[in-house]
Amino acid sequence: MEKQAENSSRLVLVLYPFQGHINPMLQLATIFHAKGYSITIIHPEFNSPNPSNHPQFTFISVPDKLLESKVSLSPGDFMNLVLALNKNCAAPFKKCLKQMLDDEHPCERIAGVIYDGLMYFAQTVADDLGLPGISMRPTAAAMLLFAVIPQIEQESVFDRQIPELQPLELTQMVTSMSKSPTDAMTEVRAASLNAMKRSAGMIANSIEFLEHAALTKIGEHSPVPVFTIGPFHKLAPSSSSSLLQEEADCISWLDKQAPKSVIYVSFGSMASLSKQDIVEISWGLANSEQPFLWVIRPGLVLGSEGTELLPDGFLETVGDRGCIVKWAPQKEVLAHCAVGGFWTHCGWNSTLESVSEGVPMLCRPCFGDQFLNMRYICYIWKIGLELENELERGKIKGAIKTLLVNIEGKEMRNKAMEFKGKTELCLREGGSSSSSLDEFTKRILSV
Ligand code: UDX
Repeated sequence: MEKQAENSSRLVLVLYPFQGHINPMLQLATIFHAKGYSITIIHPEFNSPNPSNHPQFTFISVPDKLLESKVSLSPGDFMNLVLALNKNCAAPFKKCLKQMLDDEHPCERIAGVIYDGLMYFAQTVADDLGLPGISMRPTAAAMLLFAVIPQIEQESVFDRQIPELQPLELTQMVTSMSKSPTDAMTEVRAASLNAMKRSAGMIANSIEFLEHAALTKIGEHSPVPVFTIGPFHKLAPSSSSSLLQEEADCISWLDKQAPKSVIYVSFGSMASLSKQDIVEISWGLANSEQPFLWVIRPGLVLGSEGTELLPDGFLETVGDRGCIVKWAPQKEVLAHCAVGGFWTHCGWNSTLESVSEGVPMLCRPCFGDQFLNMRYICYIWKIGLELENELERGKIKGAIKTLLVNIEGKEMRNKAMEFKGKTELCLREGGSSSSSLDEFTKRILSV
């Protein structure tokens, strides 16, 4: 994307410190930098990104006091972590932003504060200092339906008014979410909703054609405009923002494999599996006789490195047909011509990265929004297969074969390629994402 030299404003972006949120926010920063904005990234101390990977941005860390707050960093306790970050980071962020405004050069005004939807304290600070706040949503836009439609109306709206979205099973999600809400969950929901209402708008990392029905309904209910400008990683390719070291060697291994023959297996940065899952996956992959690239990150099985759990005889059986890494350069992997399928936990970033490269998915969601994403992939877009119930080696082998080679999977594979083409069109000048980005800069940043 061409840098527009006439633009000399600065944007302040506030990160939520987990991989699935850091990636899209730094990608968004790259998009605005390419449009000519100077970028300041504000982040908690915990999981801080590596500034040397992004020398074009200014990074400022704010104290998060997470140790003092004694919150657990496990996904199960994530609402308390969100509360602690919002409580602890607000005052230092305000001080820092105030200082930035005091030091502001008239030729480089701060145009706005873009924050991860979970870092809603940033909206209050932006309000106090008279700046527009914009929340960035790293999940499917459909997740916003729960925020913009009043709780009391959700079930009836989902059941009767959005028939195209029935396969998402939104009503079941409402029921399970409201079954036993914790105090922390209720507080986070209320505070983020309140912030969203005061924001100048929301930016969704999604694509209009993927979520047309949900976006139309959101447009009817949302008190603020939603700009759909994804997939961010394709709009302005950015450098890596991985917290773990990427093992680039797997690309030379991929170079040696036949086109569309490899199943890439990765469960993102937070999902976990049991020891028995590792055994079944191992033999499922071995018996499929397809080449595979498998990410076993430390902690994938809680408290373990993972690779020591591989069953006896497995590595000898697969030999060079398998490549196992702790962390992969995933966007590059999915764009590689040897990759024919992606076994994923259906994190939204992984979903968009696969859609953009036309790679069909084998879906094994683990928690939260991943179930909704799986239902989009398998039952609305029809570019993937769901792997349900207990993991079992025979079923895994069969599913890999259907995904990659068998005739039953052909339509799904073709559809996935169609989606790649449609995504490219959205990113071109005049395409939905590119136009929405232009509208955002005109409407929100130039006031
Ligand atoms: C979390 C939630 O689980 C997800 O559902 C939500 O939508 C975003 O936050 P995570 O589980 O990490 O994210 O999954 P995902 O959204 O797929 O993000 C993982 C990111 O890590 C992707 O951008 C992927 O490219 C990257 N990745 C993953 C690597 O670079 N290398 C790997 O080996 C694995």
